[in-house]
Amino acid sequence: MEYLLCRYGIASGKVLDPFTGSGTTLFAASSVGMDVDGIELLPIGQQIIATRLCLEREFTDDDFAAIRQWLKTCPWKQSLVRYPLPKLRITDGAYPAETSDAIERYMGTLQQENERVQTVLRFALLCVLESISYTRKDGQYLRWDYRSGRRNGGKPFNKGHILNFDQAICAKIEEILHDLKLSSGYLEERIQGNIHLFEGSCLDVMPALPCDSYDAIVTSPPYCNRYDYTRTYALELALLSVDEKELINLRQQMLSCTVENHAKNLLIINPRWANATAAADQQELLQAILRYLEHQKEQGELNNNGIPRMVRGYFYEMACIISECSRVMKQNAPLFRVNDNVRYAGASISVDMILSSIAEMLGFHVENILVLPNGKGNSSQQMGEHGCDPLRKCVYVWRKT
Ligand SMILES: C[S@@+](CC[C@H](N)C(=O)[O-])C[C@H]1O[C@@H](n2cnc3c(N)ncnc32)[C@H](O)[C@@H]1O
Repeated sequence: MEYLLCRYGIASGKVLDPFTGSGTTLFAASSVGMDVDGIELLPIGQQIIATRLCLEREFTDDDFAAIRQWLKTCPWKQSLVRYPLPKLRITDGAYPAETSDAIERYMGTLQQENERVQTVLRFALLCVLESISYTRKDGQYLRWDYRSGRRNGGKPFNKGHILNFDQAICAKIEEILHDLKLSSGYLEERIQGNIHLFEGSCLDVMPALPCDSYDAIVTSPPYCNRYDYTRTYALELALLSVDEKELINLRQQMLSCTVENHAKNLLIINPRWANATAAADQQELLQAILRYLEHQKEQGELNNNGIPRMVRGYFYEMACIISECSRVMKQNAPLFRVNDNVRYAGASISVDMILSSIAEMLGFHVENILVLPNGKGNSSQQMGEHGCDPLRKCVYVWRKT
């Protein structure tokens, strides 16, 4: 992020990242003195950003002392106060019994601290959840270790050593204190721009942003690769009290990138997007790919029948986001976005070329497509059937005309 801002001479004004994640753009742009707005749908990203902001801008010496005290005395070990660990169907049984008990005592004890200290202690817990659980993040879902008694289908999975709660949390708190010590002088010296995070879907938030207001957009949206953030981050979302209904809502509000996404009615969300959906209708390569995938589905050749709907949803929703980006950017402002191409049923989908062509129809000039040096291979299954042409990983540079 810093490299891009520096290389393209972006040093003043306001930046937007509509898919903020854990906030790389926010903190990089703010550190060069720019104001920056972010939009993030998932509570886990929102929580990470809130913690970093709290540590960088609000944390007091007394708060540091409270955290050091936690490390020294481990107050949860003797505590009788418990905070019941929220569960989701897809996270039920994720921890050994003594670990669930320790988490409940840790969460119960931290309620006695002020909000800032609670935020940092909760963040430390979020950081270690996977390592103390029977699960491993695996892109499309959580993989379950054989010791959990839950099956993934296929061969039993052994994730290796599962960390003990007390050791894992103490090591993480120590690491956080160490990082803060290293960065403390640096943070004090820096002029920092304002950071504002909108919590919600960019499909809802962007239409309310004013026209011609941003000097740059820097973003890394979800890829069209079936990665399901709501399943991958299920342990963390459960701890943040996301319930079953909310989890399903979040999954459907996400930009379509899983086979479970239903089609969104984009023109009901915003009738102004007729231009965006028309641009996607006119993109010939996209339409050829969608016809091919529908044909493969009819022939029973797809390993999941939701793939054509996901690919269609991804590009049509992206077209709407591109149209909003164009509307909210100042003339001549640059947009950078990171993305990978993908492949389904043997068809390479040039996400970079299709989106750049749609961007040209919606008010951008395509200045460059920077290709990362090592093309990614293919899944082993697809490799066997379709060869191993690498898929491009790119950073697109578009400029608002
Ligand atoms: C590739 S990640 C971004 C990573 C980010 N650059 C960082 O520093 O962590 C894509 C993000 O987009 C978010 N996202 C997906 N659909 C969204 C939507 N409709 N509105 C806002 N954010 C969304 C995901 O939750 C995820 O955090």
